Parts: sequence; C-alpha cells; structure tokens
Amino acid sequence: MKNISLRKATIKDILVVVEFDYNLDQVEHIKLKREEKITKAILNNQCFIILENNLSVGFVIFDYRFFDQGWIELIIIGDAYRGKGIGEQAIDLICKKSKTDKVFTSTNRSNMPMQKVLTKSGFSFAGKLIGLDEGDPELFYFKKRKNQS
Ligand SMILES: CC(C)(COP(=O)(O)OP(=O)(O)OC[C@H]1O[C@@H](n2cnc3c(N)ncnc32)[C@H](O)[C@@H]1OP(=O)(O)O)[C@@H](O)C(=O)NCCC(=O)NCCS
Repeated sequence: MKNISLRKATIKDILVVVEFDYNLDQVEHIKLKREEKITKAILNNQCFIILENNLSVGFVIFDYRFFDQGWIELIIIGDAYRGKGIGEQAIDLICKKSKTDKVFTSTNRSNMPMQKVLTKSGFSFAGKLIGLDEGDPELFYFKKRKNQS
C-alpha cells in the first residue's frame, strides 16, 4: 500500500496544480479559465495536494456546492502516477474529510478510469444527466461514509 496523504494547497502550490490541469487538457484549461477556478478553490481552502510520501502526484478539489453535500469537483492524478491505486486512496481520504454523511461526484460516461476508481472506492451510481457535453452524458455517483474523522 502506497503512503498517500492529502495536504491543503496554499497559493504557493498554484503552479504545480495548474500544471497538472494544463497537462490534462490544454484547450479546456484555457477555454474554461481553469487557472481562475483553481486559484479560487485554493483561496477557499477547497484544494488538496495529493502526496505520495513527499512528492506531489495530483490534486483534488472538494467542496459542498452540490446541495450542501460533500462534492468532489475535480481530481487529477499526474500522468506518470495513474493506474497505481493512488486515485482510490486519495478519494478515500477526501471522503473521510467530509463533514456530510454522503459524498457526491460526477464524471463523463467516456471516462472509464474515473468510473472504475469510483466503483473501487465504494461509490454507487446515482443518475445520468444529458445536455452538458454533446453525446457524452454526465454520470453522478455517491457514497455513504462509514467512518467520521
Ligand atoms: C481518474 C483518475 C483520477 C484515477 O486515478 P488513478 O490513480 O489512476 O486511479 P487508480 O489507479 O486507483 O484506479 C484507476 C483504475 O482505472 C483503470 N484504468 C486506467 N486507465 C484506464 C483506461 N484507459 N480504461 C479503463 N480503465 C482504466 C486502472 O486499471 C484502475 O483500475 P484497476 O485498479 O482495477 O486496475 C486518473 O486516471 C486521472 O487523473 N485521470 C485524468 C483526470 C480525470 O479524468 N479526472 C476525473 C474527472 S472528475
């Protein structure tokens, strides 16, 4: 089992976080003004750096904007670190941080790795929303937490 932990991002982390997002999809990063979104999340204490030992391997944005429920807005694991169970552990850790008993998130139907990691982490399918991305519905998932921390 890898030594994965979360650390609240500070404004000093902005370049690292922006780089993970930019590398994922440069066009979306610019079109959707993701740097602004990331900066706002950091300033609102909603962005967490995912660490493997002391190395930054990704980030997760978590808030309560979805009907006041814990909500994973975005998780990105750096390219080189995917498929090693880090996403699963990071999702488990963020769920433990939630103040609500249920945590929700969503992903595109085309995003098989995210659906796989959510199923591994004990999330259940909650419903499908069409109309956001043409031909690629948004799938919603939720998990009931067992342990508070
Ligand atoms: C989705 C994501 C966070 C998962 O993180 P991760 O560290 O790779 O997750 P894990 O290693 O815990 O599990 C990923 C699972 O998907 C599988 N997987 C990886 N690539 C895949 C692919 N192209 N198609 C199907 N499954 C795939 C892995 O094999 C693994 O399942 P397994 O353990 O049964 O083998 C990561 O892939 C990522 O950052 N993707 C890009 C950003 C993104 O799409 N974020 C989610 C949008 S909200």
